[in-house]
Amino acid sequence: MVSIINPQIEEYIRGLAPERPDYMLEMERYAEENYVSIIPPEVAQFLTTLIHLSQAREVLEIGTAIAYSTIWLAWAAAPRGGHITTIEINERRAAAAVENIRQAGLEDKITLLKGHAVDIVPHLKDEYDFIFIDAAKGQYGWFFEELYPRLKPGGLLVSDNVLAEGAVVVPEEELRHRQKTAVRRLRDYLRMITSHPGLETTIIPFGDGLAVSLKK
Ligand SMILES: C[S@@+](CC[C@H](N)C(=O)[O-])C[C@H]1O[C@@H](n2cnc3c(N)ncnc32)[C@H](O)[C@@H]1O
Repeated sequence: MVSIINPQIEEYIRGLAPERPDYMLEMERYAEENYVSIIPPEVAQFLTTLIHLSQAREVLEIGTAIAYSTIWLAWAAAPRGGHITTIEINERRAAAAVENIRQAGLEDKITLLKGHAVDIVPHLKDEYDFIFIDAAKGQYGWFFEELYPRLKPGGLLVSDNVLAEGAVVVPEEELRHRQKTAVRRLRDYLRMITSHPGLETTIIPFGDGLAVSLKK
């Protein structure tokens, strides 16, 4: 695959990430050992800054996994009276998330909805200040159709993994068969959010690629 960021630079930046409690370090270890893909701490720090800058209170996350990013989002938004709603389809991960949220003492700041986002999102009525999409890459386009009306004007939509470990620039014939559809859909998604008249989008080659879209 194509490196998005020089590995030495990435390691250096990671070494400067903020200190975090032991239970977060334990989650990082668990994720690595169990092949759970979570955002690295430097990306979590960037999301924290975006939440502070946008003064976001109502936050929605698609793709909780074990609630590592969810806890960072709650740390950023909760002091302003904010609340995180997060959705996870995998039962085992959702169970781990419940335990991790409890350990962080954030049960009253986070609502974890278990199930397929495709079934859950249409029933969400709230308007969100900040939406973080970090789930199945092939579904980003669908999520967007449902999520855009739920994002307040001035709100931020952050899409993770949009460079797919660099696969977005690999010629079609060099991609593994099962990657092709997901990469094609991601490219379509990026074209759509960068040309959407209601959004101002920046793609950042950071982590696995973040797209930050401001709703006008
Ligand atoms: C990259 S992980 C999320 C990592 C997490 N945001 C973090 O950084 O700590 C993606 C998660 O999305 C979940 N997921 C994928 N498709 C989903 C869907 N349609 N509805 C709900 N969850 C989904 C997966 O089970 C997986 O746990």
